[in-house]
This record gives sequence, structure tokens and C-alpha cells, in this order.
Amino acid sequence: MNKKFYITTPIYYVNARPHIGHVYTTIACDTIARRQRMLGADTYFLTGTDEHGQKIERAAQAAGKTPQQLADEVSAEFRAMWDRMGLTYDDFIRTTSDRHKCGVQELFRRLRDNGYIYKGTYTGQYCVFDELYVDAAGPGAPCPECGRPTETVHEDNYFFKLSAFQDKLLQLYSEQPDFIRPETRRNEVISFVRSGLRDLSVSRSTFSWGIPVPDDHKHVIYVWLDALANYITALGYGSPDTKLYDKYWPADVQMVGKEIVRFHCVYWPAFLMAAEVPLPKGIMAHGWLLFEENKMSKSRGNIVRPKTILDVLGADALRYFLLREVVFGQDGSFSFDALVQRYNADLANGLGNLASRTLSMITRYFRGEVPYPSAAVAHKSSDDAIAKAAGKAIAEFSTAFDQYQFSRALEVAWGLAAAVDKYIVENEPWALGEKQDEESRSRLATVLYTSAEALRIVTALAHPVIPDAAAKIWVQLGLGDIKQFALSDLKWGQLHLGTKLGKVEAVFPRADKSAVERMQKMEDQGRPAPAATEAQAPASASSASGQFATQAATPAEPKATSISPDGKISIDDFEKVELRVGQVKVAEKVKNADKLLRLEVDLGNEVRQVIAGIAEAYAPETLVGRKVVIVANLAPRMLKGLESNGMIVAASPEGGKPVLASFLEDVPVGTRLK
Ligand code: MSP
Repeated sequence: MNKKFYITTPIYYVNARPHIGHVYTTIACDTIARRQRMLGADTYFLTGTDEHGQKIERAAQAAGKTPQQLADEVSAEFRAMWDRMGLTYDDFIRTTSDRHKCGVQELFRRLRDNGYIYKGTYTGQYCVFDELYVDAAGPGAPCPECGRPTETVHEDNYFFKLSAFQDKLLQLYSEQPDFIRPETRRNEVISFVRSGLRDLSVSRSTFSWGIPVPDDHKHVIYVWLDALANYITALGYGSPDTKLYDKYWPADVQMVGKEIVRFHCVYWPAFLMAAEVPLPKGIMAHGWLLFEENKMSKSRGNIVRPKTILDVLGADALRYFLLREVVFGQDGSFSFDALVQRYNADLANGLGNLASRTLSMITRYFRGEVPYPSAAVAHKSSDDAIAKAAGKAIAEFSTAFDQYQFSRALEVAWGLAAAVDKYIVENEPWALGEKQDEESRSRLATVLYTSAEALRIVTALAHPVIPDAAAKIWVQLGLGDIKQFALSDLKWGQLHLGTKLGKVEAVFPRADKSAVERMQKMEDQGRPAPAATEAQAPASASSASGQFATQAATPAEPKATSISPDGKISIDDFEKVELRVGQVKVAEKVKNADKLLRLEVDLGNEVRQVIAGIAEAYAPETLVGRKVVIVANLAPRMLKGLESNGMIVAASPEGGKPVLASFLEDVPVGTRLK
């Protein structure tokens, strides 16, 4: 019977639309799943969306939607994007689906029946952004994970006896050193657990967007217990049909970003131990994709949409770039420049060029049929060297890839392609092709066979990473459907004499210079509002309203609202402006813009980046921690290449400096001004 292989991505929150940070994890899993299938494993690949919890409830409120509407929309968007990218997931789980809800309730019952759940009161801090209890902190303390201010929660909750699992978890990490990878994350988790585990609140009772606790519907199950369970509920855990669960669980690898390691390596195995469910074989944590030096995320406004790259360069380019450029496990930067550079160097000029020159010459000199190195006299040591290098590449690629060192694996495969390129240049098949004598023909056959065979090997190895292009090259090599190829058999010499090539076409057309610019422009245009110039920002400061607009003013548009002849507006019109109390978390100067500061402002349910024209009035360090008033429902705009998401309110004395609006009494972050 074939070995089984079960792989999962984290399930993505539906408060943000898919960006290439989410794509990164999913591509890594897709690549692993594809390789496992090629190796003959009975593979199951799960992904999906995380749709419950306070964060989603608030995001929906802010968007004027029900949580279910928001979840339906964004979940569909994730799925459509995964389909457009050709990701080969076997199941897409949604936490609002009935099958999931039943499974989660069953897990909760199991924990309770096994004596690991009790009722208590939680008084402490909670970070809504991370959906994380922050026990040992005082009111307003920052979340240790994201730095955002936490909220004080006082609730009667159900608790899980996490403290009972401290020793068992430490034993797990020591007996299964591969349970957490890479080593750095493993060490962090071990020291976190060693420092002591407190019992964990696993229900909330002050909002309702979640799965009800069985037999006590005043509570909803803590969103992380709900979400983590997806990995088994998707297989039918807790349902009458457990065929998939029996076959695929435990997971062979669960892929996560480094910020959610604690949930997966501490809470998850503890829940499973308590419920007497086998543990996954391993959790692999990768690093962050950075853009302009920061983690790509919605709250920073520095995301890149996959669509832009798919439209210009295609999915293979993005897949190859992410896995080749970033050392898996570490943080890595994304830039359009680096993407286009790698695309041209490694794909268009590298593999693409090797394929087209080799196959075109076979078409030209051997009527499109693979020639065979026949006469011993035509053999040279450089031919053997390529065969040997190919064997070595197969072994090294496999070792690196199976340890999730994708970058190293691709370097090995492309190293072979580069060696073949050099071999072609040195052997000058085009010159041999001009000669008609037996020896030259025979030598030409050897050189082209060797090149084509090495090309076949690089293509087979690279297929999980660049599936579309590899499938095309395979067809051009006359080998049919690459999915049918058994990768475990891959070795030198399998390309048969006389194989009829398919039609030779370029698989990676070169990207011209404008590709970077085009993608950047598409990204900017994809944002809700057109870019504005910095100069406009202060200009609006002395507007008639006396309010200092720190964001560029919107060009005058015909007003849909009614203004009476005396210039008064109705209360309904005023209510359209969403003013909220925010707290400045980060303040810094904007490069090459004397008047602008970049602020990160916490609005309670999210942190916004606001570009404010107040640099001449306030030093950045005096603003951190300060409560301010934000116009929260303005369309985003670009200022000096940075997205500004809201406007800070200030009085603007005639001829003087702006003065920020503030409060004498303490007001909770996020409060609306009416
Ligand atoms: N819903 C939780 C996970 C629950 S799993 C039971 C969550 N969702 S998330 O939408 O915030 O996405 C988390 C995952 O998306 C990260 O762990 C990571 O895999 C991926 N990424 C999101 N932004 C990323 C980067 N900028 N860089 C790399 N990966 C990123 O947490």
C-alpha cells in the first residue's frame, strides 16, 4: 500500500484579503504535496479559512456587514485565488461550516469528559488582534506578540487545564526533536513551556460570533480551540464518517508562520493529548515575507496582491521566486525588482533558454527525434561528467527538499542546468551540426542527448515548484503528462532513443524593463483611491473647516449629500464621518518628506498606518502612547509611496502649527465620537 501524506496550511483569517504572505505558506504546502504525489504517496492537502472570533466580528462591524457576510465574501476570495493559482488542495475547510462546528463541539465534550475543563473567571488582558490571552500583564499593557495594547477582560469562562501538560509537552519536544522545526523555534517553545504554563481560558461570554459551548450556549468556544480543530474536523473527526480521519490523521507536517508557533506547538498538542487524539508528526514554521523591510500585513498597508504578479509573470514565476529567494524558516524580502531579476536570470535565460536551445537543435538536426549517443568513439569525459552531476543533483535535491530547504534544492537543480549550458557552449553543437561526417553526427547526437536528458532531470525535479512550465517542457520533450511520472524512479538514461519531440515553444518569455513599473502601477491602482502628492496634504490644513487634514484632501467631487443653503448639514451627514479614539503605537519621520510622519495608530480592533502632515509641530517620540482622534472611514491614499489609512484630527490656528485634538479624561481606544 502507498505511504500516506497529510499536509495542512494554517487557516486564514477572513478580516484580510489574500496577499502574497498567505500565498507563500500555501505555495510551500502545494509544492510539498505535489512532490509527495510524484513520489507515489497517497497525499491529502488541506487549507481553508478561520471565520470566528472577536476580531472578525469587529472587522465585520467596521465594514457594515454581518460576520457571516464578511466571511462568505473573503473566504470565497481566498478560494478563488487558490484556484486561479492552480493550487492542488484536496479540501478547503471553513470554520462556519456545520461539519466543523459539530467536530469542534465533540472535541470540547471530549476535553470536558476527560476532566480537563472547569469553570472559572478570567480577569486579565486580551489581544484581539492575535486572539491571545495575555495573563501576566496590567491594563493597557502591550501584547507580547504584536505590541498592540491589550484589552481588559473580566468574564466567567471555561478553562482548560493546560498546566497539567507542562511536563508531557517537554517530554514530547525532547523525544521527538523534529516535532518543531526549525531549531530556533523549537528552542523558543521549550523555554516558554519551561517558564511555566497557566490554565487557558477556552470560552468567551461577552460576544457571540463563535461556536456555542455544548450545553451552555451563553459561551462561545475560544477561537483558537475552534480554529486548530480544523485539522481534524476536515477529516470527519466527531462525525459519523471518519474514513478520512482514520486514513490520514496524524498529519505528516503542519505548516505555519512563525507568529503562530505557540498555538500550534503548545496549545494544540496539549488539546490533543487531553482528548486522546494522536499528535501530528511535526510543525514547520517559516519566517515572514517582508515588503519595504516590514512584515507584509494588512494593518501596515504594505501588502502585494498575488493578482498583479499572476497577470504579468504567471504563477510559476511567483512560486519559483518565493521558494528560491527566501531561505525557508527565515524572513525574506519581496520586491518587484528582485522578482523580475530572478525571473529573467533563472527562468527565462536559465531553464527556459536551456530547453529551447536544446530542443530546437534536436528538431533542426534530428527531425525532432531524440538521438542516441551511439559510437564509443564519440564519447568524451565531459559527457560522463554531466551524467554524474545529474545523479548527484537528484540525490542532493531530494535531501534538501525533504528538509524543506527549498532554496538549496533549487540551487542544486539550477546548478545542473548551468553545467549543461556550459557543456553546450564548450561542445558547440551548432558547429557540429554544419558537418556531415559520421564522427561529427555521432558527437552531435551525444551532446544533444546528454543535454536533453539533463533537461529532463531538472524538469522532473522542478515540477513541484514550477508545475505549469515543467508540464510544458515535458510535453515538448515528447514525454506526455508529467503527473504520471514516478519521481522515485528518476535516474540518468531514461530518455529513449527516437522519442518524438512536441512543438518547441518558449516557456518563459523574457520580461522587459517595464515589467517592474507595470506591476507597481497595478498595485497602486488596485488600492481604493488614486495616489495623491505630499504637497496636497498640508494645503488642506488651512481649510475653511479649521481642521487640520493630515491626509491629502480629496479633489472636490459632486456631493451626494444635501447641504442646506445656510451651509448646514444634517445629523445623518455628520454620522457618515466615523471619528474614533486611537492610540499612537509607532511614530517616525517619512524619508524625503519634511512635513510628514508615519504613524501606526491602534483603533482597538486594528492598527492603522496614517501618514500625517504634522512633522513640523511634533517630534515623533512625543506622540507614542498619545490618544488622538482619527477619521476612520476615509478611503486609503498613497503619500510618498506609503498608504495612509485615515486622517488625524487637529486644530489649525491661522498661521500657526497644528494642534492635535485630545481628551482631558481617559477614553478607551476605539471609542466613537458622535
Ligand atoms: N487564523 C490564524 C491561523 C489559525 S490556524 C489554526 C491566522 N491567520 S492569518 O490570516 O493571520 O494567517 C496566518 C498565516 O498566513 C501565517 O501563519 C503565515 O503562514 C501566513 N502569512 C501571513 N502574512 C505573512 C507574511 N507577511 N509572511 C509570511 N507568511 C505570512 O493566524
